[in-house]
Amino acid sequence: MKMLVTGPRGFVGARIMAQVKDAAPCPSLRDADADTVKRLVDEFEPDMIVHTAAMSDISECEKDPAGSYHANVEIPVMLACTKVKTVVFSTDQVYRGCEGNGPYTEETAKPANLYARHKLEMEERVLDISPDIVVLRATWMYDMPMYGVPNRGNFLVNMLRGGELSFSSTQHRAVTYVREAAGHISRAAALPGGVYNYGSENSLTMLETAQWLKNELGLPVVLRDAGPLPHLWMDCGKLKKAGVCFQTALEGLGQCLRDYGLRAL
Ligand SMILES: NC(=O)c1ccc[n+]([C@@H]2O[C@H](COP(=O)([O-])OP(=O)(O)OC[C@H]3O[C@@H](n4cnc5c(N)ncnc54)[C@H](OP(=O)(O)O)[C@@H]3O)[C@@H](O)[C@H]2O)c1
Repeated sequence: MKMLVTGPRGFVGARIMAQVKDAAPCPSLRDADADTVKRLVDEFEPDMIVHTAAMSDISECEKDPAGSYHANVEIPVMLACTKVKTVVFSTDQVYRGCEGNGPYTEETAKPANLYARHKLEMEERVLDISPDIVVLRATWMYDMPMYGVPNRGNFLVNMLRGGELSFSSTQHRAVTYVREAAGHISRAAALPGGVYNYGSENSLTMLETAQWLKNELGLPVVLRDAGPLPHLWMDCGKLKKAGVCFQTALEGLGQCLRDYGLRAL
């Protein structure tokens, strides 16, 4: 199975490249047009595409709406037009405007920022073009920095850096070990087309999750309450029913700490 991975040096793409046999890196799609995308795909003849390339920073998207639209809507649409089986990443941010506590199922999305609005439009458009596309709404993911790959802030790295950090004592949201997300990608690619919440589930608030990690590693971080924030709590039942099961957020964190020798058990 030839898997073409877009964004192969990105946070998620680099882990997929490292963990999936037969994964091949796609050249950068920045500023790509439909002809370029078609030519790339025709040349490579992949059995599947895993599309991780995106403009994924919420504030960058707000500053550059046209750039976000091209990266987060138009490029995935160009890939969908190739009709190759594709897995495309979306985000739990599509739930940011939802009322109620969650956990949210796939049909309840209500974006509250430009990034999420573009991701939701992308989901609808790619599935219109090619209903067998698998859309994965991912949670916030973390890992230790990876050699040779640009680092980016994430929950674990931010906590390890120490200092003062604020998390909400009421916000329910999950964090997912990105290596677990990458490890499930071939199974995800075999799912029937549609939208899936993708990642660990977490019944704790973000402040409780951070407190757990602080205690587990004895970190010198000072945790403050960020006050009420919208829930981003996803129900991953549809994914589990389809046979793709993640550890809970705390189990995933424990796994990551063991993988890096940061905790004995
Ligand atoms: N990281 C998370 O915690 C998280 C959470 C929820 C959802 N997601 C989603 O998961 C996917 C992967 O996220 P990630 O964290 O791996 O993303 P990332 O590291 O920020 O970016 C992945 C790749 O996207 C390409 N890229 C950046 N700007 C671009 C632009 N303007 N146009 C086209 N390509 C561009 C770059 O590849 P090249 O240098 O090759 O162009 C980059 O390496 C994204 O769809 C993201 O929205 C991520």
